[in-house]
Amino acid sequence: MSKTTSKWTCQECGYISPSYLGKCPECNSWSTLIEEVTSKKSTKLSPSENSFLTTSSIDIENLQRIKSFDKELDNVLGGGFVNGSLVLLAGEPGIGKSTILLQVADHLSNKSKVAYVTAEESIYQVKLRAQRLNLPGENLLLLAENNLETIIELIEREKPQFLIIDSIQAIYHPELESSAGNVSQVRECANKILHLAKSKNITTILVGHVNKEGLIAGPKVLEHIVDTVLYFEGEKFHNFRVLRATKNRFGCTNELSVFEMKDSGLVPISNPSFLFMSQSKEAVPGSTYSAIVEGSKTIIAEVQALVGGTSYTTPRRVANGLDYNRVLQIIAILERRVGFNFSKHDLFVNLVGGLSSYEPALDLSIAMSIVSCKQDVIPSKKTVFIGEIGLTGEIRQVNQIENRIKECIKLGFERVVIPDMGAKMQNSKIEILQTKKILDVIRHSLTTTQNV
Ligand SMILES: Nc1ncnc2c1ncn2[C@@H]1O[C@H](COP(=O)(O)OP(=O)(O)OP(=O)(O)O)[C@@H](O)[C@H]1O
Ligand SMILES: [Mg+2]
Repeated sequence: MSKTTSKWTCQECGYISPSYLGKCPECNSWSTLIEEVTSKKSTKLSPSENSFLTTSSIDIENLQRIKSFDKELDNVLGGGFVNGSLVLLAGEPGIGKSTILLQVADHLSNKSKVAYVTAEESIYQVKLRAQRLNLPGENLLLLAENNLETIIELIEREKPQFLIIDSIQAIYHPELESSAGNVSQVRECANKILHLAKSKNITTILVGHVNKEGLIAGPKVLEHIVDTVLYFEGEKFHNFRVLRATKNRFGCTNELSVFEMKDSGLVPISNPSFLFMSQSKEAVPGSTYSAIVEGSKTIIAEVQALVGGTSYTTPRRVANGLDYNRVLQIIAILERRVGFNFSKHDLFVNLVGGLSSYEPALDLSIAMSIVSCKQDVIPSKKTVFIGEIGLTGEIRQVNQIENRIKECIKLGFERVVIPDMGAKMQNSKIEILQTKKILDVIRHSLTTTQNV
């Protein structure tokens, strides 16, 4: 066995220390020294077993897609799991990561050998969940273990086709002194698992925790190591969960799938377009709709805004499920181009139902919700607002406008406000209002426009 030693390397300047230091003596950065394990192997050169190949001689038969329990999940993956790939599933605590993976594991274990390593829960807890979800999983191999060396040894012995590790933050490599979840542990463990997945052709799914800011806990390098990063999001207090890929070496990243958390587990919803609207049928000031496109899905999203007097010297701006900087930009446009003054107002903007989207097409709906609340007016008809707002207050074109309009018609909207698309657009089922400036939208689509 090769002899291993540890060294601590500053991630800022590369300074190397034989022991841990809180502050780097070279660049004075705090908490940047990360433990790294080095193996002292024989340096004797031996002829390499590797060699160059021509693309035509490479056999990709082995890289076929393996379908999960659900078509929606397969779409997000780009058509299913790729043999030997390494997938990271990240999400907030309690969002349903273990639930969906148990459903995946149960389904796959009917045809393949699947190993589920639980590092956070006992095997009894997993069995209880399986019972609750009515998943027989008779062939599923369960292991409760945190030590990565033991896990690798057992996996090499069992040779499963699928491996699930729940979670990467709960396992540790015994050669590192730091505790599980530490940056160096996560990085080292991920590297070892990558090697295992690729060398033994085991399709591996890692569960990853997210931190307070919603980013994957641990080093950024974790996202570089894996082939695919899936985010499971939504609000714990809502039943809907959105799964999307933020990185995929085997497919596109703009697909999204929606699940509902039920007693029986996560149930896919193939047409989620109406889910992210409030149940209220009545129009209220501060609430407008937009149509957003996520991969192959068009979703009608409701944007709510609340504008109220502030008791602070600097007014508060809060954006839930939306791009914060974008919301600030829209407020600035409304002030400079329309003439509003929000300097004495707190402003809260929210995407209903736990959905989050950074689509520029939401701009118009964000602006109209703010104006609607500030002026205490409502859209004169059941309206959907679609369009990006430029800094001069112009409404800019967005893609797939026809699909968006189709979805508005399907959900019974009476009017859609869109950017000027060059040619006149008409539809007998819905009034289409093409606009060039934010001021025009405010003038033409709200019941009263006094004070503007
Ligand atoms: N008995 C139950 N009936 C219905 N839903 C349940 C039940 N128990 C748990 N849940 C749902 O499952 C969710 C927890 O799911 P799960 O354990 O898969 O989450 P997780 O993302 O793995 O969490 P963690 O990060 O803590 O491991 C709960 O938030 C709840 O919504
Ligand atoms: Mg879990």
